[in-house]
Amino acid sequence: MTLTALFPTFVHSAPLGGGTAALDRRLLRECRHLQAEDRVGRAWSARHYTGGYTSYNSRSRMHQVSPTFAALARRLDAHVRGFARALDFDLRGRRLVMTDCWVNIMRRHGTHSLHLHPLSTISGTYYVSAPVGCAGIKFEDPRLERFMAAPPRKATARAANRAWQTLPARAGRVVLFESWLRHEVPPTRSNGERVSISFNYGWF
Ligand code: NI
Repeated sequence: MTLTALFPTFVHSAPLGGGTAALDRRLLRECRHLQAEDRVGRAWSARHYTGGYTSYNSRSRMHQVSPTFAALARRLDAHVRGFARALDFDLRGRRLVMTDCWVNIMRRHGTHSLHLHPLSTISGTYYVSAPVGCAGIKFEDPRLERFMAAPPRKATARAANRAWQTLPARAGRVVLFESWLRHEVPPTRSNGERVSISFNYGWF
């Protein structure tokens, strides 16, 4: 074949590494504790976060207030550095620094509609608990609005040619993407709680 892939969209997905059992136990405890005591966040979630709890609008800098989240952030830093290298970022002496870090707890039918993360450079999620059947993260081809008369792709199209791609949620794994890449969490179908920690990195 004579094909060349131009302008690919890269997403990083990998185990956090370094053993996560003890860290996950502490994170899970703190996430549940936060949900129990964050009245403002629960009220906000009831209006804006169908079928779940998020501390996005109330406690969004957990890495600055919890040593457990700070420990997670240090490990995520390494993934972000590697992702930036893979993307050939020229950081011009500046650094990618975590700016936001928040908790998401989804129950059955919980969903998070299509969005991007404005004012950030790299965003991602770490999965603390991902019961069987829970929703993954679904990414949208960023060129979609330019496709105009382009025919749809076959159901059997290879991954790189699909307009939507879903990465499964797996406990102990981290997913990173550039913050402009639109994504959503489709309705989750598991009975257990899907617990994730999302975060943004800025370029400073
Ligand atoms: Ni998001």
